[in-house]
Amino acid sequence: ESTLGAAAAQSGRYFGVAIAANRLSDSTYASIANREFNSVTAENEMKIDATEPQRGQFNFTNADRIYNWAVQNGKEVRGHTLAWHSQQPGWMQSLSGSALRQAMIDHINGVMAHYKGKIAQWDVVNEAFADGSSGARRDSNLERTGSDWIEVAFRTARAADPSAKLCYNDYNVENWTWAKTQAMYRMVKDFKQRGVPIDCVGFQSHFNSGSPYNSNFRTTLQEFAALGVDVAITELDIQGASPTTYAAVVNDCLAVSRCLGVTVWGVRDMDSWRSGDTPLLFNNDGSKKAAYTAVLNALNAG
Ligand code: G3I
Repeated sequence: ESTLGAAAAQSGRYFGVAIAANRLSDSTYASIANREFNSVTAENEMKIDATEPQRGQFNFTNADRIYNWAVQNGKEVRGHTLAWHSQQPGWMQSLSGSALRQAMIDHINGVMAHYKGKIAQWDVVNEAFADGSSGARRDSNLERTGSDWIEVAFRTARAADPSAKLCYNDYNVENWTWAKTQAMYRMVKDFKQRGVPIDCVGFQSHFNSGSPYNSNFRTTLQEFAALGVDVAITELDIQGASPTTYAAVVNDCLAVSRCLGVTVWGVRDMDSWRSGDTPLLFNNDGSKKAAYTAVLNALNAG
């Protein structure tokens, strides 16, 4: 196959991309995105500050621009993200305790109702663990409502849209030896044992010199899959875009039957949240980088 999406589809997987609504009017951007990818994540537009800027007043204008573009072009949509310490609107940042807990529940219900039956996977909770060696939860206003906030979010989400796969999504959890990875593993194992509804784990995979790719990523994916959840690579970008590393990540997904697919976090380098790292698959002029060819070849060989 000659595109990433079609090549991934040969093994029943998708190859996705993060889309920014305000870039869809750029014809180079839109034509690459439409040609190459068969899954879409909104880079910012489905987040809490974008979808509920005032309490109880939902705004899906930009989220729907992306959703409608995706569906009109035959792509599935990953929802990102319902409960997160970051990109909270001001009104939510100022809440705590039971009022914040209820606001989180209301937010999940409001957004999931709008997209009921339309989203393949939802990142229900994003980035709830601390970096470093502690293996602890990240301190946040949500965590301070009680550490059961994560399972409350998942139970709320299951009831709101039983058709969506419900994912926990985080970064610096790709290396099997890292404390953060092990902490996430213990949470997912506990959720599965107690029947908390979780279907998938998203590994963001923002690789750079401080947090490099390690070949034990495949072990990580296998160990989580063995708990009975699907896994996905949800925000892939690699500082410098080494073709070898890109191919290794794709091969890790292909090696794990429960790996649903790969999403890269932007189209061209200039579209990246860290464009100085030139971490993506396309040059700024829209041409394909060596990493693109490495990924396509890996998908076609798998
Ligand atoms: O929309 C405003 C614009 O009105 C304003 O003029 C401009 C001035 O700074 O800011 C714009 O908002 C920015 C937004 O991106 C849209 O471009 C925010 O400042 C900026 O903080 C925001 O960054 C996003 C970041 O999440 C915020 O946490 C990145 O685009 C987005 O790629 C990044 O994505 C996250 C994932 O959601 C979770 N995992 C990590 C990943 C990378 O940080």
